[in-house]
Amino acid sequence: MLVSMKSILDNALEGKYAVAAPNVDNEHNVRAAIEAAEEMNSPIILGVPYHANPDIEYFGRIITDLARRASVPVAINLDHGASYEHCVHAIRAQFTSIMVDRSQEPFEINVAETKELVKVAHAVGVTVEAELGHVGVGENYDVDGYTGLTDPDEAVRFVEETGVDCLAVAIGTAHGVYKGEPNIRFELLEELTEKLQIPLVLHGGSGSGDENLAKCAKLGICKVNLSNDLRKASIEELTSQDLSGNAVYGMYRFLGEGFKNKVKHYITVLGSEGKA
Ligand code: G3H
Ligand code: ZN
Repeated sequence: MLVSMKSILDNALEGKYAVAAPNVDNEHNVRAAIEAAEEMNSPIILGVPYHANPDIEYFGRIITDLARRASVPVAINLDHGASYEHCVHAIRAQFTSIMVDRSQEPFEINVAETKELVKVAHAVGVTVEAELGHVGVGENYDVDGYTGLTDPDEAVRFVEETGVDCLAVAIGTAHGVYKGEPNIRFELLEELTEKLQIPLVLHGGSGSGDENLAKCAKLGICKVNLSNDLRKASIEELTSQDLSGNAVYGMYRFLGEGFKNKVKHYITVLGSEGKA
């Protein structure tokens, strides 16, 4: 069933688990993600970057149709919405949630632009995620010099002023493959959870370590965004096959299998199995 992201996240906050948010960009990985959730009886959040598909309205029709047919709750979130136009377009494409990402802007601009989109989105029942602090790229990861950490007092002001439903926080994770080891600030997460009392989101789930992610899910993270590991798993499954002769016809099935199994793995890690 197609549901609001807020309903999934509020349940996760109360139940102290997190929901996997796989990045999807085609019908095959959408189906794989939904099948993973159905097989685990778990809710799932599909994260769709604006440029995942050349035509967001067409893609929106496909994903919402598949989500409506699912036996488990499925939310569809615009991932890293980079402009007012992209966010409004995602709402028109029937997404049930948008992420307004102004995390690289100064605080006041982030507040003003997020607040404006909260008004638009809430008017039509769409959930809003924003980001404060900045989750950077793993290839630039420097354990000692991680500068974008979320400031708890700023975060309190941000949530009060914008009215967002959930907040992506920077606690030491990074997007994609890490250079070095991830250093996650659990005390900072505990402080943010305590002060904000709304569902928190973790970006850069891939390569962050299963134990770390499981601990984050217990400490207030309600959604974990995942991309790199899922793509890698798809490709590994495909390339592990004997693709000689007509076996190549199974290409999309193999890619989907790899994707699905990795999503199932993360559903177990994050504790949302059986929570549909
Ligand atoms: O928004 C997308 C994610 O944060 C994915 O990050 O590729 O490190 O899993 P990842
Ligand atoms: Zn992200």
